[in-house]
Amino acid sequence: MDYSSLIDRTRLPKHIAIIMDGNGRWAKEQGKDRVYGHHEGVLSVRDIVNGAAEIGISYLTLYAFSTENWNRPKEEVKALMELLVNTIRREADDLKKNGVRLHVIGDMESLPVICQKEMQEAIDMTAHNDRLNLVLALSYSARWEITHAAKMIGREVALGTIRPEDIDENYFAQHLATASFPDPELMIRTSGEHRISNYLLWQLAYAELYFTPVHWPAFRKAHLLEAIYNYQQRERRFGLTSEQISNATKNTVQH
Ligand code: FPP
Repeated sequence: MDYSSLIDRTRLPKHIAIIMDGNGRWAKEQGKDRVYGHHEGVLSVRDIVNGAAEIGISYLTLYAFSTENWNRPKEEVKALMELLVNTIRREADDLKKNGVRLHVIGDMESLPVICQKEMQEAIDMTAHNDRLNLVLALSYSARWEITHAAKMIGREVALGTIRPEDIDENYFAQHLATASFPDPELMIRTSGEHRISNYLLWQLAYAELYFTPVHWPAFRKAHLLEAIYNYQQRERRFGLTSEQISNATKNTVQH
């Protein structure tokens, strides 16, 4: 099916978050080792970043390395770090040319120094772009992020900058790594697992979740379009009733 012609360009999600899963299983199916799967996964990253920019998505967040991934075999962690460094080094010019602005969320200080340096260079190089914001979640977990925010706010309370009773959801969200991004409306996880895995727990509160059996190295722009089409068939209620939503839509159309 050609989802490209079916998608309503006026109702695109502004922010799509993806859990790129299944590199290892895909590689095993090809009779190759896990690292081969990660290398092929980079081709999907390229295709999805370009695809998202072409479609008109403003924010794309990719779960590239979780806090828990540090516990993988040492050789795999080393290969993933090298892959990240080499990919960013190779792609930075193209990101800049294509209007993509790079951001990183996560515990940057826990990354190898060379990785921090390459990321920072690419972040600085692309800082004036505004076509697509590409957010890499690196050494990231939502519990780490929420704990980090709580510590910052705790310090502010101790210093007397804010009173506990004045802390609201908005104030808390401003202390998350994603403070300057809108919440994702759509979260995609590849490879058939139906879990959130410590990803953007606060930000996904009202997101539509989309799970596909396709492994990440096989995921392409056509699959992204299918996910967006699926998202557009859903009714987002934010805790309201269906009737309230349709009345609100009618009123918006009338006024
Ligand atoms: C999950 O597959 C994937 C990862 C843990 C790493 C994702 C990294 C990349 C796609 C490459 C680098 C990314 C960028 C942004 C340059 P898995 O290993 O958990 O697969 P499995 O569940 O089948 O074992």
